[in-house]
Amino acid sequence: MSTLDFSTTLGNAWFPTPTFTASGCASSGRELAQFFDLASIGGVVTKSIMSKARSGRPTPRMAETPSGMLNSIGLQGPGLDAFLAKDIPYLVEQKARIIVSIAGETVEEYSTLARKLRAVSGISALEVNISCPNVENRGLVFACDPEASRRVIDGVRRTIGGELPIIAKLSPDVTDLVSIARGVVDAGADALALINTVLGMVINLDTMRPHLGGKTGGLSGPAIRPIAVRAVYQVHAAMPQVPILAMGGISNGRDALEMIAAGASGVSIGTASFGNPMAIIAVQDELKALLTAKGFNSLRQAIGYAHRPESE
Ligand code: FUM
Repeated sequence: MSTLDFSTTLGNAWFPTPTFTASGCASSGRELAQFFDLASIGGVVTKSIMSKARSGRPTPRMAETPSGMLNSIGLQGPGLDAFLAKDIPYLVEQKARIIVSIAGETVEEYSTLARKLRAVSGISALEVNISCPNVENRGLVFACDPEASRRVIDGVRRTIGGELPIIAKLSPDVTDLVSIARGVVDAGADALALINTVLGMVINLDTMRPHLGGKTGGLSGPAIRPIAVRAVYQVHAAMPQVPILAMGGISNGRDALEMIAAGASGVSIGTASFGNPMAIIAVQDELKALLTAKGFNSLRQAIGYAHRPESE
């Protein structure tokens, strides 16, 4: 029997396993709960929630691409009040560990969301999504601007106080990811979620126009995995003490181990769940078996392993 310690931490939040849903790919977990027990994974990262209900971008909102897909959802959602009334009680009842993802159009909206969530019990951490690519105004992708990123995280930190861990979700579509990561950590983020989707586009050759209603969309799936591995590696090299929740094309245990070796403390599985709703369970089992086969006693020993000198 394996004696592997598979647990992980993101800030002061402890999780028995390092495998999470990726925000936006499983709403609040209901669809996946018919396939597996939500309490058996590290946690559910909810779809990013905004203050008010939002219908999102025009259709079509999805496009398949080689080894990936583009989405242009536009942060569709029920708004915070409905989410608190329906989704949080559901997840608590399932005994799921909950990471609530929030998104806003202004610095103030993030703080307002944080203020309302501060008093809600059963939440392990807040993911502050400052990197959604599907906003009308690209100037509102806070994570593409170091000062705007810092202001959002600073506002959320001041609002929620010191208890609840903040995970800042960053975009790979920047020139210097490490400096943005440093800025949000200095502003109060305890951990980082790397990476959000990569901005892309598909032209429909029947209409000779952009396929997506929103024209551009976020690319996810195996096509972006090397970008995510690079991002995790670079940020871990600069700030090895900051936990990283890695996502971007993870669909099996080997992909997950690659992220862990690059410096991730946990992994989120998103696009793979669309083809196989049990993907996260497969990743979890395969990662555990791989760590054991390689002689690790704990997940922690493998985090950032790729940074060690060859001689070790
Ligand atoms: O369009 C969307 O709702 C996507 C959000 C995200 O990638 O953060």
